Amino acid sequence: MRRIFPEPAEAVEVAAVYIGARRPPPPGRPWVMLDMIASADGAAAVEGRARGLGSPADRAVFFALRAMADVVMVAAGTVRAEGYGPPRLSEEAQAARIARGQPPLPRMAVVSGSLELDWGSPLFTDSPERPYVITAADAAGEGRRRAEAAAEVIATGSKGTADLADALARLGRDGARLVLSEGGPSLNGALLRDDLVDELDLTVAPSLVGGDAIRIVRGGAPPQPVRLPLAHALEEDGYLFLRYARA
Ligand SMILES: NC(=O)c1ccc[n+]([C@@H]2O[C@H](COP(=O)([O-])OP(=O)(O)OC[C@H]3O[C@@H](n4cnc5c(N)ncnc54)[C@H](OP(=O)(O)O)[C@@H]3O)[C@@H](O)[C@H]2O)c1
Repeated sequence: MRRIFPEPAEAVEVAAVYIGARRPPPPGRPWVMLDMIASADGAAAVEGRARGLGSPADRAVFFALRAMADVVMVAAGTVRAEGYGPPRLSEEAQAARIARGQPPLPRMAVVSGSLELDWGSPLFTDSPERPYVITAADAAGEGRRRAEAAAEVIATGSKGTADLADALARLGRDGARLVLSEGGPSLNGALLRDDLVDELDLTVAPSLVGGDAIRIVRGGAPPQPVRLPLAHALEEDGYLFLRYARA
């Protein structure tokens, strides 16, 4: 992979570039980074899934980000669309985490209001650490009971909408310094609306999807556009890897 910005370099090591970045946790919560891919015309999914946009280099960035994260947060819509499973990393990445004082794998956190999730899926039955489920405090009934049995529930907010700022503060109190959000767009919107996005790691795929595809953010809008300076730009096989981060 080559670096285009800031200092051009013909070959950079992906994991080293991402882990070398500064990410000071803001007061009271972990640093939050979003990992998303979009086509050159802004589509965040092809036929309902992001996978159709990816490449080997994009997978490398995906794993480099996961390898750093304390918690991988993902919304229920994406869990259902992409068939999420337990976190996995190479032996080498796990060893590097242990050397840094982290558990070998990040912990998963699923955000859901409805709690209509497949509680018997490997995400809940085979994850090395019980996933978190982030939901509203008034979530009740069978879904709440099953969530409590399968996961560690963070219940905050009301009317089916979790208070994400409060949930992130709780993750911070549990020791998380770095939370990776893998979307999808509705969760990104909720995070953006509450000014909880510190970093966007955006892959731009060299393809045009057309149609009415969703963007990487939908729903939430902050009162003012959030300005995130470009921190680096990498390229491989025509794919751009753009890291935007709070100064
Ligand atoms: N391009 C990319 O990098 C990328 C990445 C991820 C996903 N995607 C694509 O995005 C699509 C899914 O996106 P989406 O916007 O429809 O869904 P989404 O953001 O993945 O999930 C939305 C769901 O998350 C839950 N949720 C979000 N915020 C919440 C909050 N504050 N409190 C409680 N629950 C909350 C709700 O779950 P309940 O319905 O359970 O209440 C909501 O319906 C799929 O096509 C997927 O392939 C693309």
